[in-house]
Amino acid sequence: MSSPYLSVDLAVVRDRLAALRAALPDARVFYAVKANPSDAVVAALAEAGAGFDVASPGEVELALRHGADPAGLCYANPVRKPADVLSAAHAGVRFFVTDSSEDLAVLAVHAPGADVLVRLAVDEVGSATPFGGKFGCSRSEAAGLLRGAGTLGLRPAGLSFHVGSQQLRPAAYATAIEAAAQVTLDAGLARLPLLDVGGGFPVRYREPVPPLTRYTAEIRAAVRTHFPEHPPELAVEPGRFLVAEAGVLHAQVVRVSQRHDGRRWVYLDVGRYGGLAETEGEAIGYRVATPHDGGELAPAVLAGPTCDGDDVLYREMVLPRALRSGDSVRLLAAGAYTASYSSVAFNGLPPLAVRCMDSD
Ligand SMILES: Cc1ncc(COP(=O)(O)O)c(C=O)c1O
Repeated sequence: MSSPYLSVDLAVVRDRLAALRAALPDARVFYAVKANPSDAVVAALAEAGAGFDVASPGEVELALRHGADPAGLCYANPVRKPADVLSAAHAGVRFFVTDSSEDLAVLAVHAPGADVLVRLAVDEVGSATPFGGKFGCSRSEAAGLLRGAGTLGLRPAGLSFHVGSQQLRPAAYATAIEAAAQVTLDAGLARLPLLDVGGGFPVRYREPVPPLTRYTAEIRAAVRTHFPEHPPELAVEPGRFLVAEAGVLHAQVVRVSQRHDGRRWVYLDVGRYGGLAETEGEAIGYRVATPHDGGELAPAVLAGPTCDGDDVLYREMVLPRALRSGDSVRLLAAGAYTASYSSVAFNGLPPLAVRCMDSD
């Protein structure tokens, strides 16, 4: 396959799923399809019995095409049209996440009897890519929506939250679980059927991150403390954690230039628009492996190939001094939010190609 392309090892995806299941044995797993919607990834996870967090009718169709059980899908994106709700309900989706009375009314009409999870807005401090207030509602709104669901003929199935992706603070989950327990009381529910603690579990890019088991221990302890009588069933919506470390983005150096700003610019054949969208604000710092690793390092700006001034990945990196045009490089742990973010034709460049293989 010619550069650039993403290779994904399905054995690693299965291994990450097994690690998550071992750490939270009783939790439902809804894989967040948006992280990597490659057919082979979705098929492998469906075969392993995972459920799916879907964000659109397209993702519903994708998951079902690969054998997912519709009852194991959670339509977790609350920003959707009535027709989207209708088609998902017709396809057999039962779980819908909501965060507004407007959406709840749509669910009542187009997905009567559905299991509704109310998404609570929670503290995202510690997340590399927070949602910044786009989703979730306040505690009082959440309690009102849970009560309202019942009166509208829907099933108040539980609460969900997302502490922000690549969350480096395990305690973020505990704080959110405490808030969820408070909402349960405020809503007058004797027990909360399901608590969906979202995604956010981090992976190692340049810096080490706390191990998964610190997060799951925090979650379990918080559930014990705040739901002592009737612990809810747990669900998780991992995206990054399941697929990032399975992926390697193979790229090539197009050009190395000493520019008028006095700096060395290294241009790759992949950039912000070819799948590396999460380098915006340098939120995600991919590790870059080169044929000259171990040699002398020097400062560099790392940029993408397109005619856009924003197509710069990192402004202050150190890369081997010997890097030359034509060198192959690899961006590691790049399996999440890359192919799915790649533009279809910016500058005439094709979307990021994906090659899935199985090292097992
Ligand atoms: C609703 C929802 N759930 C889960 C995820 C997956 O999050 P992560 O990749 O941090 O696990 C996302 C990511 O955007 C999301 O929007």
